[in-house]
Amino acid sequence: MQRTPFPSPLAGMAAGTVISFCALSAFVPQTFSSKIKLNLTLFSLLLGGAAGLIIPAAKRRNNAMVLAAQPGWSGWRNFVVSRREKESEEITSFYLQPVDPGPLPSYRPGQFLTIELVIPGELKPVVRTYSLSDFPDPKQAIDHYRLSIKREPAPRGKDVPAGLASNFLHDHVQVGNNLRVRVPAGNFVLDTEANTPIVLISNGVGITPMIAMAKAAGQRQVWFVHGCRNGEFHAFRSEVNLLAAQHPNINVHYAYSKPSMADQGCYHSEGRLDGALLQRLVNVPADYFICGSPPFMESLIAELSEFGINEASIHFESFNKALPTVKAVEANSDAAFPGAMVEFSDSSKTSTWNGKDPELSLLSLAEAEGLMPPCACRAGVCGTCATKLLAGKVNYINEPSAALEPGEVLICIARPASEQVKLKL
Ligand code: FES
Repeated sequence: MQRTPFPSPLAGMAAGTVISFCALSAFVPQTFSSKIKLNLTLFSLLLGGAAGLIIPAAKRRNNAMVLAAQPGWSGWRNFVVSRREKESEEITSFYLQPVDPGPLPSYRPGQFLTIELVIPGELKPVVRTYSLSDFPDPKQAIDHYRLSIKREPAPRGKDVPAGLASNFLHDHVQVGNNLRVRVPAGNFVLDTEANTPIVLISNGVGITPMIAMAKAAGQRQVWFVHGCRNGEFHAFRSEVNLLAAQHPNINVHYAYSKPSMADQGCYHSEGRLDGALLQRLVNVPADYFICGSPPFMESLIAELSEFGINEASIHFESFNKALPTVKAVEANSDAAFPGAMVEFSDSSKTSTWNGKDPELSLLSLAEAEGLMPPCACRAGVCGTCATKLLAGKVNYINEPSAALEPGEVLICIARPASEQVKLKL
């Protein structure tokens, strides 16, 4: 197979600010970021909720590490795009195979891949995370991963550019192109050992991890509930319909907000996918998994809570930076070192930690010094910013969930915990 480099740059495209764990935009609504209670919930679910358990703090970190750890490879690995498939008006799937002949590790349903794109005109590689949109038969060896990516246009009425990576992928990444990939990771996963009924709720491209979960659900009772505008924007309808036809335990419901004439017979309800609809559909205690746009998730989580669904039964993917919780900041405030000297060894730069901003991280300190460490999630999830700690100590604003090599730290959520810190940057 011929492997070609990426073609010419996107003319005039500005650097994006999108962070995604479900291949969705990560524009943080003010209301969302200001809700401490919701942030606390997000934080706890990010760490342990996917297993349906409330995990004591000491155990939680180990659990999160286990979820992120995968046998496979460390760092980046070269892959080639072996197939492209248009799934809807705005979503395209990319099938990725390793360039080397080594085996591919499996992954947990709901996990994501971190990919690196070398985009002409960008000062550094662009790193993004996208959910794996398929789940392999456990009895068969895997020979590819599938990512399904939504083209992110510039949001109307907002001073935010179009998605740099998603547009580049859609417009320029073709079969035969190479890109670098990190091992599957993430803790928004279905516990395949459990047998409680599950409700998989998504809108738009949030459908991607839900497909993996539905395929991994075994004999569990499943409600697969998806909302989108209409059939043109409905990705994977045939694939999910086929899955449901083969598995009577999977109940499907599609809610179209603006169905067209051509959609007759292809959807189940007209209007918004909301808590009231879920209440009508689901009549047994279940675990709820939610993936979609931030406003969709925010309203649905609130509605499910109002309807009495236990927080421990509501699991959702974080699209946004996991903001520091009150508890986390308080817990670490004694250990942070105002005035600590931070040395970036490779670039021979030194900076002083001001210690006042609770959201400041060693990553943002490095960026303020003009350095450009690789990063994607900025939340301690993807592992892209892993950096060798050569001297000193750090503590974390949030508990990390990415797997690390010995001696590495995640600088996107790390702060100095000693008077001197030396990083290999
Ligand atoms: S950027 Fe993802 S873990 Fe730091």
